[in-house]
Amino acid sequence: MKADIGVIGLAVMGQNLILNMNDNGFKVVAYNRTVAKVDEFLNGPAKGTNIVGATSLEDLVSKLESPRKVMLMVRAGDVVDQFIDALAPLLDEGDIIIDGGNTNYPDTNRRYASLREKGIRFIGAGVSGGEEGARFGPSIMPGGDPEAWPFVKPIFQGIAAKTEQGEACCDWVGKEGAGHFVKMVHNGIEYGDMQLISEAYHFMKEGLGLSADEMQAIFTEWNKTELDSYLVEITADILGYKDEDGEALVEKILDTAGQKGTGKWTGINALEHGIPLTLITDSVFARCLSSLKDQRVEAEKVFNNPILAIEGDKAQWVDALRQALLASKIISYAQGFMLIREASEENDWSLNYGNVALMWRGGCIIRSAFLGNIRDAFEANPELAFLGLDNYFKDILEQCLPAWRKVVAKSFETGLPMPCMSSALTFLNGYTTARLPANMLQAQRDYFGAHTYERTDKPRGEFFHTNWTGKGGDISSTTYDV
Ligand code: 6PG
Repeated sequence: MKADIGVIGLAVMGQNLILNMNDNGFKVVAYNRTVAKVDEFLNGPAKGTNIVGATSLEDLVSKLESPRKVMLMVRAGDVVDQFIDALAPLLDEGDIIIDGGNTNYPDTNRRYASLREKGIRFIGAGVSGGEEGARFGPSIMPGGDPEAWPFVKPIFQGIAAKTEQGEACCDWVGKEGAGHFVKMVHNGIEYGDMQLISEAYHFMKEGLGLSADEMQAIFTEWNKTELDSYLVEITADILGYKDEDGEALVEKILDTAGQKGTGKWTGINALEHGIPLTLITDSVFARCLSSLKDQRVEAEKVFNNPILAIEGDKAQWVDALRQALLASKIISYAQGFMLIREASEENDWSLNYGNVALMWRGGCIIRSAFLGNIRDAFEANPELAFLGLDNYFKDILEQCLPAWRKVVAKSFETGLPMPCMSSALTFLNGYTTARLPANMLQAQRDYFGAHTYERTDKPRGEFFHTNWTGKGGDISSTTYDV
C-alpha cells in the first residue's frame, strides 16, 4: 500500500506531526537530508508504527499515492527553495508540495506562482502549537493552490486540534501566501500577548512587591476569567517553577528577549499597509530594548529614575491590572484583524475572519477562550472594521476603561515601563476621537512644502494650498498618499 503523505525534515515539529498523522490512521513516509536521522526515528519514536522511511527523494516520491503530497518541515528560507528545486523534477503534474514552516508569506507567493507554471500545486501552511501541538493537535493555517486543498483536507483536519464543539482548528485560508500571512499575524499577536503578560508581572512584582507564589495564584485565578488562555496558564506554571535552591527559576533568567523575526515581519507589514498595529509593533521594540542589556545597566547607574512602589490596596490594584490586561489584549486582536482585513482586500484573498478566529481557538500558542467571541463577532458582522465596536467587546472595553486608565497612569507616575498597555490605551483614545490634531499637521505640511490640505467646509477630494507667509508661491506640490 502506498503512503498518504511524505514529510521531509525530522526536527521536533516534523517528527511530532508524523506521529500525529500516524495516530490518525494516515500512512506517512519520513525523510531527512541526513539520512541517519530517518533510521534513528524509525528505531526510536516511530518504532511499532506504520511509518516508513525513505533513503532519497526518489525513494520518497516512489512510495507515495497519487497525487503525491510532500510536506516540508524544514527551516524557513533557502532550504525550502533547495528542496522544492530538487523535488519538482521528480513530481508529476497535479502533485502537491506543502511548506509547513514559519515562512515569510511573500516567499510563499513566489513559490506558489513558479510551481503553478510547472503544474505543481503548492500549499503554504502555518502550523502552530509547538512540540505538544504538533504531536496531539496543532492549529493549521493552509493557503495556496485551492485545487490542492481537497486532497490535503482530510489529513490536516484529522490531525488538527478540535474545539469543544469538535470543529477542527484548520480550514482553508485563501490563495497564494494567505495561510502564511495569517500565521505571521498569529505570531505578532503572540508577541503582543506575551509582552502584555510580562508587563502585568512587572507591575505586580516591582510595583506591588508580590512574590512569585502570590503571582502564580493570581494568574491561576485570571485563567478562570475572560483571560482564559494558554499563555496565561503557562505563566502561572512558570511562576510556580522552583530552581534547585527553592527560588522561582524565572527570577534567574536573563532579561534579554530573543526573536526569530515573525513579529518584526508583522510590524513591517503593518507599516506597508498603513495599519496602526501599534501594540504588536511596540512588543517587537520592547524585545529590542530588552536586548540592550549592557546599555540599560549603565543607564540605570547614571540616571536618577527609579521605579517607585505603588501604594494602596493590593487586591484592588490586581483587579485593575486584570482589566487593563484584558482590554489591551482586545485591542491587540482588534488591530491584528484590521491588518488581516487590509491584506485580504489588497490581495483579493477573500479571507473569512470568523474562520481565522476558529483556527486560533485551539492548538496554537494564542489559543484563548475569547477567540470564540471573536468568531461570533465576525460571523454576526463579516464587515466589522474594528472588533472593539462589536457589542460584546465594546461592553468589556467600556467597563475596563476606568481601571485601565488608572493602571497606565500609575505606570507613568511610578516610572514602570508598560509600552503595550499604554500603547493600546492611546490607540483606543485616538480611534474613538472624531477630530484629531492632524489638521495642524496638514497645515504644517502645506506651510513648508505646499503639500495641500482638504477643508472641513468643502467636499472630500478637493485640495487647497495657502500662501501662508505671503512670500511663497501659489504653486502646490502634487497630492498623493503612500
Ligand atoms: C507557534 C510559535 C512558533 C515559534 C515562534 C517563536 O505558533 O507555535 O509561534 O512558531 O515558537 O516562531 O518566535 P520567536 O522566536 O520569534 O519568539
